[in-house]
Amino acid sequence: MILVTGATGYIGSHTVVELISHGYEVLALDNLSTSRAAAIDAIESITGIRVPLEIIDLKDQASLLNIVGKYPIEGVIHIAGHLAVGESVEQPLKYYENNVNGLINLLRFMELSKCENLIFSSSCTVYGEVQQMPVKESLPTKRPNSPYGNTKKISEEIIEDLSAAGALKAICLRYFNPIGAHASGLLGENPDNVYNLLPLLLKAASGHLQELKVFGNDYPTKDGSCVRDYVHVLDIAAAHVKAFQRLNSISTKNTVEKFNLGSGKGYTVIEMIQAFEKINQIKIKYHVEARRDGDVAEIYSDSKLAFDKLNWTTKYTLDDMLSSAWNREKTFRKNELH
Ligand code: UD1
Repeated sequence: MILVTGATGYIGSHTVVELISHGYEVLALDNLSTSRAAAIDAIESITGIRVPLEIIDLKDQASLLNIVGKYPIEGVIHIAGHLAVGESVEQPLKYYENNVNGLINLLRFMELSKCENLIFSSSCTVYGEVQQMPVKESLPTKRPNSPYGNTKKISEEIIEDLSAAGALKAICLRYFNPIGAHASGLLGENPDNVYNLLPLLLKAASGHLQELKVFGNDYPTKDGSCVRDYVHVLDIAAAHVKAFQRLNSISTKNTVEKFNLGSGKGYTVIEMIQAFEKINQIKIKYHVEARRDGDVAEIYSDSKLAFDKLNWTTKYTLDDMLSSAWNREKTFRKNELH
């Protein structure tokens, strides 16, 4: 059985579906702080399987240790975490407490459960401000631009230390910008997310936000807005299964591997708006604002290592990402009215 933390969240729920479709048994864990237990119903509608859900906050070590031995856990996919760059600049302690303490408690749980396989949701933010694109895993990590980013960097280091002590095999998946949704429209990003570009763009498209803000048009990029590497959440979910299979095939304990998960292509914020408008035939109102604290000008991935070692590559296009995201938004808003 695989324990997935953050299982009712955006990436977690898509990953659970992918694990089930590969025949894995899953234990879902979440504190439901930014997601809903209804995701478990959606997963059941899609897969026909109802996964057990433990509603536990990873900061609460006692509750977590209470379930040691309750399930036969052979591996952990740790996705739970706070994710807003801007919020982390304003409330750093919230991020260190949740993302770092949460990981430490989970590692103690794994130790007591005699479970040594860990997949960790990391982020391209661990590279900090990068001069040369695309980014390869061989590039040393730097102090990220935000406390959020720093929690990911510190988490990778904690995992490395445990692995060096012979306690763990791990793979850190460094996501670039996951967007898009399952074709059913039943799973998707938290519509209350007021930090990331896509949820806000969707709100602007559905009329729940008057205007989208574009943070900065004076970066050294082709139209002055920031460049990011957007990758379909279904591709991200697939990478977790491949990573878990790889972890199982590795016998040495002192192993921590890191893989970039990106499409290899960078798009500016303005290009994203235009692509969304074109594929979905809908106009987005936006205006340019000042730069946002913590943002880097440009980042996109070299994902060759994931291709070579995980046999992973992206299957979905930008249009797939943007149309599936819009489909999800419409499904969500329709159900919300009833
Ligand atoms: C950052 C991390 C990423 C992490 C994510 C989690 C970096 C380089 N990336 O993504 O690894 O998974 O946080 O939250 O640190 N934007 C607007 N208007 C908006 C919202 C966003 O213009 O209303 C712009 C941002 O300035 C940015 C782009 O859209 O250039 C994407 O922003 P966002 O979706 O928040 O993700 P990142 O900050 O790139």
